[in-house]
Amino acid sequence: RHQIIYDTDPGVDDAMALLFLAAHPDVALRGVTTVFGNGTLATTTRNALHLTEHFAAGTPVFAGAAGPLAGTPRPPVSWIHGDDAMGDIAARQPPSRQVETRPAHRFIIDAVRAEPGTIALIAVGPLTNLARALHEAPDIAGLVKAVYVMGGAFGFHGMGGNVTPCAEANILCDPDAADRVFGAGWPVTLIGLDVTQRTLMMQEDLAHLRDAAGAAGRFIWDATRIYQHFHQRSAGFAGIYVHDSSAVACCVAPELYTVRRGPVRVVCEGLAIGQTIQKPLASPVPAPAWDDRPPQDVCVDVDVAGFLALYRRVL
Ligand code: BDR
Ligand code: CA
Repeated sequence: RHQIIYDTDPGVDDAMALLFLAAHPDVALRGVTTVFGNGTLATTTRNALHLTEHFAAGTPVFAGAAGPLAGTPRPPVSWIHGDDAMGDIAARQPPSRQVETRPAHRFIIDAVRAEPGTIALIAVGPLTNLARALHEAPDIAGLVKAVYVMGGAFGFHGMGGNVTPCAEANILCDPDAADRVFGAGWPVTLIGLDVTQRTLMMQEDLAHLRDAAGAAGRFIWDATRIYQHFHQRSAGFAGIYVHDSSAVACCVAPELYTVRRGPVRVVCEGLAIGQTIQKPLASPVPAPAWDDRPPQDVCVDVDVAGFLALYRRVL
């Protein structure tokens, strides 16, 4: 079974990915760590407690970073995810569970050291918790099995960023943290907009989940109403992009994804702040800023029908 720590800023699509993890028979969800992003840390942690209470009973929740390594957090994106960052349905019921006392990055360090080579991190928010863990315990880079990151935009299919023309939201929220995470000697797979904006879940797919996937399916339908309207307005289609669940799928079903290998850097200042740039391993051009860093995998393509069938089957 995949031993997973899920680092997240729920978030509507974060919630869908958590339900996917919780329902997957080959996944052992060892802990949920929260970070600011789609909402404040207080909001995303409240949402994680709510989700685990209802759909992943017994999974501990650890609160992490309330802002980036440097500077102040970007404001919550209530027009995308709702005022409560979960489609304005989470606030209906306060969670009865409590957050753990250990901070998120400390839990990551302890868990990874206790079981070397076993635990995979799936990170679908700003990468501040992972960067903090690396800073405090650089040895964990050699102990983690794999790191799957929803983030970045590499322009493979002419797609740019979703906050600026070159920056994707998770990376832009903490570019310094992302650059450190991609430069560490652990195996990272980036699942960026190049594949997540090609993975569309349409209204009929969501309605099918509502009707066939029990309480989880009904929750997904309710939670995605505001999120779907945002996609309708901004991208003009009757459905949603599948961001965070794509990182889960890449972990449990890597055969659905095609990757390109090479070191990755993040632009940390200036006009293009938040841009992710990979130097393909095959490139003969010397580029010192990339050449002394480990190669990572960046997703180039996805089997969309395969993804949708997997999500539907698991839920
Ligand atoms: C990413 O940003 C957040 O809004 C989503 O939850 C996802 O992780 C997409 O750019
Ligand atoms: Ca997210």
